[in-house]
Amino acid sequence: MDLPHVWLWTMLLACVLAWMIFHVNNQRKKKSMLKVAEAEAATEGIREGDVDTIIIGAGVGGSALAYALAKDGCRVHVIERDMREPERMTGEVMQPGGRFMLAKLGLQDCLENIDAQELAGLAVYKDGKEGVLPFPVENNTFPYEPSGRCFHNGRLVQRLRHKASSLPNVHMEEGTVKSLIEEKEVIKGVIYKNTAGQETTAFAPLTVVCDRCYSNLRRSLVDSTVSIYILPKVDLNLHRLHLILSRPMVCIMYQISSDEVRCMAEIPADSVPPMANGEMSTFLKESTYGSSVREIFIKGINDGARMQVVATKSMSARLSEKKGVIVLGDAFNMRHPLIASGMMVVLSDIVILRHLLKPLENLANVTQVSQVIKNFNDIRKPMSATVNTLGSAFSQALVASKDEAKEATRLLRLPL
Ligand SMILES: Cc1cc2nc3c(=O)[nH]c(=O)nc-3n(C[C@H](O)[C@H](O)[C@H](O)COP(=O)(O)OP(=O)(O)OC[C@H]3O[C@@H](n4cnc5c(N)ncnc54)[C@H](O)[C@@H]3O)c2cc1C
Ligand SMILES: *[C@@H]1O[C@H](CO)[C@@H](O)[C@H](O)[C@H]1NC(C)=O
Ligand SMILES: *[C@@H]1O[C@H](CO)[C@@H](O)[C@H](O)[C@H]1NC(C)=O
Repeated sequence: MDLPHVWLWTMLLACVLAWMIFHVNNQRKKKSMLKVAEAEAATEGIREGDVDTIIIGAGVGGSALAYALAKDGCRVHVIERDMREPERMTGEVMQPGGRFMLAKLGLQDCLENIDAQELAGLAVYKDGKEGVLPFPVENNTFPYEPSGRCFHNGRLVQRLRHKASSLPNVHMEEGTVKSLIEEKEVIKGVIYKNTAGQETTAFAPLTVVCDRCYSNLRRSLVDSTVSIYILPKVDLNLHRLHLILSRPMVCIMYQISSDEVRCMAEIPADSVPPMANGEMSTFLKESTYGSSVREIFIKGINDGARMQVVATKSMSARLSEKKGVIVLGDAFNMRHPLIASGMMVVLSDIVILRHLLKPLENLANVTQVSQVIKNFNDIRKPMSATVNTLGSAFSQALVASKDEAKEATRLLRLPL
């Protein structure tokens, strides 16, 4: 597992470091832009209305954005469908770059007291062989050790929600947004159903849609592969992302709390067996041959681990034609989940957006806000495109293929 592995390794490293590099570059660009905006903002009038921004969805993105904007003096109204701790089997691995972005937003403490597990690198298993790839510490440009974190997504989300709603200028309300209110191509607010079951409205100069991939606004979703998740109550305790390369699937295991391991098996859509009659269990057991962590996997299934099938999607970013609205997070842009970088991307987007919006005195100036959205898109593009491309390359390298040529590449790239 020496030389060829450098390929896989380089990709991971690139993902972490490219993030930093692009960020530094963007920071420079941003500064010059801010000066212009600041000068223009000085001539603006005072704010109108009760609220400056409506945020739809208090997940990772919506909550972090609410906190960041409120810290800068914005009055924020967050509308979230369900305030209870979400039980989601996604968004559980935060890359070192994601932690860094969280720190930039002043939210790093939200990773504390949630039994988050340190992630120090990768462990790869194939055909009975295995190898370990730690995150590099040499030439580290991070302000702290470059390790990731694995955790229950819902626990992080609850911490972020609490931190945002502790600010006096954040109003977090439970309600389900039904539609956007539009007037002459400008979004003016939302229609939502509150906890009393009443349909009501909210208005703000800026609406941010952060309701994930099932977003009402974005229906152009592309199906790619299907993943299975199981949750055995076992202790893996190795602080690594375990990749088991078998056929026809690739399985990823990681510790999400001190006594739970998440398993995620990526299966090509045409090979997914039915859940019923134990067919899925049999398939999973048979497909994880050749790895020392197989026992854990099988024990988890035998112990009746909860399973779920999720269709994964990739979606390139596309700006809305409408004004007065920004789409963020998975509602805006999604990449292959194997790269485990969705949270890092949305948090970085928030860091960029926050700096661009900060100097604007009046979010009601639609022209100015539109310019910010355009700048935001230009600044984020190099990084997000890199991560998206890496995501698809990563999945192609890892996931088995029926196409012999493709499978040969996979084996060539990843001999252990
Ligand atoms: C299979 C899979 C695995 C993944 N694994 C990882 C990983 O390991 N690491 C990683 O970084 N990323 C991962 N991701 C991506 C990550 O989950 C997302 O990028 C991240 O959660 C996006 O945050 P968000 O704020 O856009 O959405 P969410 O965090 O999902 O928040 C959306 C919120 O909007 C609310 N909402 C929805 N509709 C409405 C409505 N109409 N009105 C009001 N509220 C509404 C929801 O209740 C929810 O709280 C994975 C994705 C998938 C699909
Ligand atoms: C770290 O930086 C030094 C000096 O720039 C370089 O020689 C070395 O190869 C780098 N190490 C790694 C692991 O990139
Ligand atoms: C909005 O901002 C632009 C500059 O970006 C300025 O020229 C324009 O006068 C502003 N409009 C209003 C209504 O304040």
